[in-house]
Amino acid sequence: MVSRITIILFQVFLSLNLHPAKAQAWIKAGYWYSGSDLPVSDINSTLYTHLICAFADLNSSSYHLSIPSSNDRFFSAFTNTVKQKNPSITTLLSIGGGLAKYSTLSAMAGNSTHRKSFIDDSIKTARHYGFQGLDFSWVSANTSDNMDNMGTLFEEWRAAIAMETRNSSLSELILTAAVQYSPRLDSGSFPIDSIRRNLNWIHVLAFDYYMPTWANFTAAFAALYDPDSDVNTDFGIAAWINGGLPASKLVLGLPFYGYAWKLANPNENSIGAPATGPAVTEDGDMSYKDINNYFKTNGAVGPIYNSTYVVDYFIVRSAWISFDGVDVVRIKVSYAKEKALLGYVVWEVSYDDNWGKTKRPSSAICH
Ligand SMILES: *[C@@H]1O[C@H](CO)[C@@H](O)[C@H](O)[C@H]1NC(C)=O
Ligand SMILES: *[C@@H]1O[C@H](CO)[C@@H](O)[C@H](O)[C@H]1NC(C)=O
Ligand SMILES: *[C@@H]1O[C@H](CO)[C@@H](O)[C@H](O)[C@H]1NC(C)=O
Ligand SMILES: *[C@@H]1O[C@H](CO)[C@@H](O)[C@H](O)[C@H]1NC(C)=O
Ligand SMILES: *[C@@H]1O[C@H](CO)[C@@H](O)[C@H](O)[C@H]1NC(C)=O
Ligand SMILES: *[C@@H]1O[C@H](CO)[C@@H](O)[C@H](O)[C@H]1NC(C)=O
Ligand SMILES: *[C@@H]1O[C@H](CO)[C@@H](O)[C@H](O)[C@H]1NC(C)=O
Repeated sequence: MVSRITIILFQVFLSLNLHPAKAQAWIKAGYWYSGSDLPVSDINSTLYTHLICAFADLNSSSYHLSIPSSNDRFFSAFTNTVKQKNPSITTLLSIGGGLAKYSTLSAMAGNSTHRKSFIDDSIKTARHYGFQGLDFSWVSANTSDNMDNMGTLFEEWRAAIAMETRNSSLSELILTAAVQYSPRLDSGSFPIDSIRRNLNWIHVLAFDYYMPTWANFTAAFAALYDPDSDVNTDFGIAAWINGGLPASKLVLGLPFYGYAWKLANPNENSIGAPATGPAVTEDGDMSYKDINNYFKTNGAVGPIYNSTYVVDYFIVRSAWISFDGVDVVRIKVSYAKEKALLGYVVWEVSYDDNWGKTKRPSSAICH
């Protein structure tokens, strides 16, 4: 009996020791992109628990972070600025992004000397600018070597962060990554085991499944479900979880934008209708704010909500515009809660619409 209790106590002690960090509360995160027209001071940071400043780039010879001098003052003021409205907000610096060079990221991740330069400088930079965490956004990683190297990078990065914490009086930096909707690529798979052990969580970029620049049919570009294809959010989230990543490490990406297709024939305007490329803008991409304005000023037909895919769309002459309206955002946030995910992350905070005085921004209704 005594030994039984001893064993149980020992096990309790072990489990306490192995999980010293308290559970992370529901995350309401947003990316702020330095290329947007929204001043950091205009972000309503009370809507978020985490704000992510995007992006720092990589120097292709030193593998240190590089922040263009035009952005330097915004990045260095970011944390203090967003804490003015919400002192308990947590800030992260995101590295990489869609415009970062594949060859530089790939060379960095593939060489231990370069990884060390990168890791050490990233920690120094985060501290220097006052960020509380780092987010790694290598969206172009596309080979199994890239993925293996990314796993090694996360391993070494976490070790360096833990070491830095032991040596300083500061709290440990958060480490996250932005990843594709599914861990499986044509070639290779995200390093789920390393992610589980070394990252606090991942931001699942659950959108851009179809774009008018290459899909010659209208489509739900961020479909929650799709009865005819694996390219949908529910499939991707299940693949991450079945691959071994706990749901509590997944933060669901919500697009605050949409896409406009040009219909081949305005009378054929359902999801999957023939299309001939982008409409309204060069690539067809439109912020939620611009979509609302376009809807209001152009005598649109719709919006139509399609529950098979969970998407909204409307039609203006030959333009077919799909987006996540307030109803869709609500459903996706409920989905994230039902699946016991860790929260949601918005791309991008400046795309939101404050709807004037009578209606609240869509992010405000994300619970
Ligand atoms: C990259 O780093 C090298 C070596 O430290 C430096 O000479 C160069 O100016 C840097 N390039 C940029 C674009 O910052
Ligand atoms: C890694 O980079 C260093 C410094 O440029 C170089 O000396 C070394 O040969 C590289 N290692 C590999 C395995 O390519
Ligand atoms: C991976 O992406 C890079 C950059 O887009 C491209 O140059 C390269 O050919 C791709 N590799 C594979 C195997 O698809
Ligand atoms: C932390 O301290 C250890 C030993 O005290 C030292 O070896 C190591 O270089 C230090 N690391 C950092 C990142 O300062
Ligand atoms: C769309 O593209 C596919 C693949 O390139 C092609 O087979 C199909 O005929 C195209 N459809 C239309 C309506 O242009
Ligand atoms: C959603 O759109 C597809 C394609 O047009 C259609 O087959 C399906 O019936 C729609 N779902 C609902 C619930 O209307
Ligand atoms: C910021 O968001 C909060 C929470 O929804 C809201 O109460 C407040 O009015 C908003 N502030 C501004 C300036 O929009």
